[in-house]
Amino acid sequence: MLITVFSIDENIAFLGKNSLKNNECILLLLLLISYGLLFPADMGVLAVLALPLLLLGISGVIYIYQSVRWLLSKSAVQNKVVVITDAISGLGKECSRVFHAGGARLVLCGRTWEKLEALYDALISVADPSMTYAPKLVLLDISDINCTQDVATEILNCYGCVDILINNASMKVKGAVQSISLELDKKIMDANYFGPITLTKAILPNMISRRTGHIVLINSIQGKIGIPFRAAYAASKHAAIGFFDCLRAEMEEFDISVSTVNPTFICSYHHQPAPGNWEASIWKFFFRKVAYGVHPVEVAEEVLRTVSSKKQEVLMANPVPRAAVYIRTFFPELFFAIVASGIREKLKTEEEN
Ligand SMILES: NC(=O)c1ccc[n+]([C@@H]2O[C@H](COP(=O)([O-])OP(=O)(O)OC[C@H]3O[C@@H](n4cnc5c(N)ncnc54)[C@H](OP(=O)(O)O)[C@@H]3O)[C@@H](O)[C@H]2O)c1
Repeated sequence: MLITVFSIDENIAFLGKNSLKNNECILLLLLLISYGLLFPADMGVLAVLALPLLLLGISGVIYIYQSVRWLLSKSAVQNKVVVITDAISGLGKECSRVFHAGGARLVLCGRTWEKLEALYDALISVADPSMTYAPKLVLLDISDINCTQDVATEILNCYGCVDILINNASMKVKGAVQSISLELDKKIMDANYFGPITLTKAILPNMISRRTGHIVLINSIQGKIGIPFRAAYAASKHAAIGFFDCLRAEMEEFDISVSTVNPTFICSYHHQPAPGNWEASIWKFFFRKVAYGVHPVEVAEEVLRTVSSKKQEVLMANPVPRAAVYIRTFFPELFFAIVASGIREKLKTEEEN
């Protein structure tokens, strides 16, 4: 089973500076240096200054635009009761960080108490106590349906309501269909389908009575297309997306929003270039989306934007997987043929080796 485990160091590291921002600064610096080499001083001071000034102006506009967007997103979650399942996963931690910084009253769920405590400490250590709330920690194994009911009751008894529920928890499994036991298939279905729908159904009456609320499902592109050797995972994600699509339509009359966020591959901290590795950092700046997938920080910020703008569905994918979704929809035979030839190629390579 492919489940990433993070150390406490990584817990704290994620609260540090976003390395992407450093890379952007490096790129800007390189641009300025190369411009200086291309246009020597005899071309006139004005010509030399034009590009840096233009870049500076553009950076300023981008900075102001991002600050305004952040303030708007923040106001949408301030003082709101936000439940995040599996807050200790790579993405869960980043969601916890952005919603905590936004002033939400967080309920952080996870199935390992020590990891929850480490996350709590990491959040509190960098927060301004006058602007943020101390999160509530709750043990939750999402595949344990009875426990999930009790957790919903505990949260409602504590806060009286839930404003935003982020269904992030899920289990991953990889392997050929015949190598995965039926028992494991059911466990995956419990964690990725019955778990989120149980929690949602337990919280829904409270949202309906208040005629407000937002339910977010962190799903996957594998809820849209089936990728070989991930049958159980893909099936559970397809099931979840079907449920939440129906729920969205049913909840409209109660002013409750339902959003599904479908990333492709989320890169983990294990894929980050080592600090000081310039070559890897520059490579990552240009190709991070292709080579490393989407960064958890980007996904977490997208979740925040999704909540503030009440977007219904988000697909976070590079052009190739995005095209695959459209091909699957409009030209299914072509999609199946491409996938099958990919498998044949893989088996051939394995045989040759
Ligand atoms: N990673 C990707 O490439 C990717 C791509 C698309 C979508 N997503 C979605 O993004 C969400 C977060 O994934 P992630 O990649 O950030 O996770 P992750 O870092 O790979 O961590 C896996 C997590 O699953 C937890 N877990 C496993 N079984 C559980 C259960 N029964 N109850 C509660 N927690 C359980 C583990 O908790 P313990 O540490 O306590 O075992 C661990 O925190 C998931 O919904 C996933 O489907 C991920």
